[in-house]
Amino acid sequence: MRTILQSGYGEPERVLVQGESDIPTPGDGEVLVRVHATSVNTPDCLATLGVPYALRPVMGLRAPVSPVRGSDVAGVVEAVGAHVTGFAPGDAVFGSVWTGGYKRGAPGTFCEYTVVPATQLAHKPAKLSFEEAAGAVMSGVTALVAMRDVARVRAGQQVLVNGASGGLGTFAVQLARALGAVVTGVCSTRNVELVRSLGASHVIDYTRTSYPEQDARYDVVMDNVMNHPPSVSARVLTANGVLLPNSIGTHKWLGTLPSMAFGALFKSRQWRTIQFVPSRKNLEDIGALIQSGAVKVVIDKTYPLAQAGKAVAHMASRRARGQIVLSAM
Ligand SMILES: NC(=O)c1ccc[n+]([C@@H]2O[C@H](COP(=O)([O-])OP(=O)(O)OC[C@H]3O[C@@H](n4cnc5c(N)ncnc54)[C@H](OP(=O)(O)O)[C@@H]3O)[C@@H](O)[C@H]2O)c1
Repeated sequence: MRTILQSGYGEPERVLVQGESDIPTPGDGEVLVRVHATSVNTPDCLATLGVPYALRPVMGLRAPVSPVRGSDVAGVVEAVGAHVTGFAPGDAVFGSVWTGGYKRGAPGTFCEYTVVPATQLAHKPAKLSFEEAAGAVMSGVTALVAMRDVARVRAGQQVLVNGASGGLGTFAVQLARALGAVVTGVCSTRNVELVRSLGASHVIDYTRTSYPEQDARYDVVMDNVMNHPPSVSARVLTANGVLLPNSIGTHKWLGTLPSMAFGALFKSRQWRTIQFVPSRKNLEDIGALIQSGAVKVVIDKTYPLAQAGKAVAHMASRRARGQIVLSAM
């Protein structure tokens, strides 16, 4: 099958090259999926570039421990492994091969077939295209976990989303709004109208105003950029407000690892960390919200699989508006 194989760390278009590999066999509890679409997420960019360097002991010292990038998938079931119930060949599905970090031999999705744990797979709602379904996995589920489960956003609350025009931000704005919150999005001038169209009542253009210097206060701040230290972002919280620091940042050596470690060790009661949990229930929940029209998947651009390097470079530019998708068909 056609597979995008990574040879080392570096410029995405140099190190991500199309080659051939064997179609995998589904193991116990796994489903073999013919990939129709996948999408690009921050972990794919980090593992391609090999940054922050502090992650290399887990990511792989000179090359990533697994040569195939990608974790989101939407496609059609080709075969099922032992002990899999509820899925059959021909079913349209979406899900994730994410293993919770960088693991040796982990499958990727920048290829034509992949094996997915049945517990991380759901039937694709009929109204969603394969591209939309793939774009809803890591970004949509993480934003859902953040807003619904971690921040527990309630009607009438004030929610600020920094990085409102990105993959996660476009979902977070819509989900907070769907939960009844009054949403403020932070983005640059060119994305103001997009963020407003997603349901933000207020938009702060960061090229003109820095949100920590505003007088407004928020019950929830989701920071997908972390261009301000968490202690500075926390200034705009109400007394019982919650801060969701959610970015690896841009520092080549350490990223935002020191602030995250500091938060974990001396955690302010107002800080909460969020984790991507690709359970079948979370996939079904985000799928249902999109199917109902309450949330839409914003796709910046869809690239053919062969141009995976270009797609990763686009995402790594940090200028993506919504999702970057790869079509494997
Ligand atoms: N917790 C988890 O499990 C989990 C899972 C996935 C991702 N993440 C984290 O979530 C973060 C966001 O991911 P993403 O996919 O949304 O990233 P993304 O799509 O690459 O974000 C790009 C967006 O960021 C905006 N942006 C760049 N600089 C900004 C600034 N100074 N202020 C406000 N907006 C700015 C850009 O808008 P402009 O062009 O308008 O600047 C662009 O639309 C990542 O850092 C990643 O590490 C966490």
